[in-house]
Amino acid sequence: MTNILALIKSRRSIRRYHPTPLSPDQIALLLEAGRWSPSAHNRQPWRWVVIQSHTAKVGLANAMGARLRADLMADNAPTEVIEADVNRSYDRITKAPLLLLLCLTMADMDTYPDPKRAQNEYLMAVQSCAMAGQNVLLMAHSMGLGACWMCAPLFCPDVVMGALDLPADWQAQALITVGIPAEEKTKPRKSIEDLTLYR
Ligand SMILES: Cc1cc2nc3c(=O)[nH]c(=O)nc-3n(C[C@H](O)[C@H](O)[C@H](O)COP(=O)(O)O)c2cc1C
Repeated sequence: MTNILALIKSRRSIRRYHPTPLSPDQIALLLEAGRWSPSAHNRQPWRWVVIQSHTAKVGLANAMGARLRADLMADNAPTEVIEADVNRSYDRITKAPLLLLLCLTMADMDTYPDPKRAQNEYLMAVQSCAMAGQNVLLMAHSMGLGACWMCAPLFCPDVVMGALDLPADWQAQALITVGIPAEEKTKPRKSIEDLTLYR
């Protein structure tokens, strides 16, 4: 128990990596950690896209960058802010040795005629995918790797689908960047008292 708590507490989101590629065995271990996640009705609604080729990373980064630029222009953001954001996004995506795109499919989830239950079923799929994502983050940390969850694909699932030629039912949820850490991070947490009610 102490070991798992120490692992959970020492994991940080790592955004800078050495350029060393990951081995097939390392990638297989990450996916295996995701595979054993809990899920609603054990339907395992997560899907993964393993992205290692520089060409695929550049294609994805350019497509997502174009959408980010358009969204920020629609917000009337200053040009320098837009270009800084787009460049940061490009670097994050292209400089990570490994990208794991976490997708959600409703293909095996239950269907309901009413919107309320349909929405709850969708939420359960989202929650299940998040658990798979967390398991991958923890597995990466346990292997001495750094990783970070990027939410950007959630804002442009159509762009991601087109750039990576995904199946029609794969909804992009997050991009997990992975690599050998090239930075150290600390983060605070709220106290348990601030977050908890006892009854
Ligand atoms: C749902 C979710 C979305 C996140 N999106 C981003 C993101 O787009 N970019 C980023 O750099 N970090 C992102 N993060 C990482 C958080 O910033 C990070 O987990 C938080 O600041 C706590 O830091 P720690 O993970 O090092 O403990 C995301 C994390 C979660 C759970």
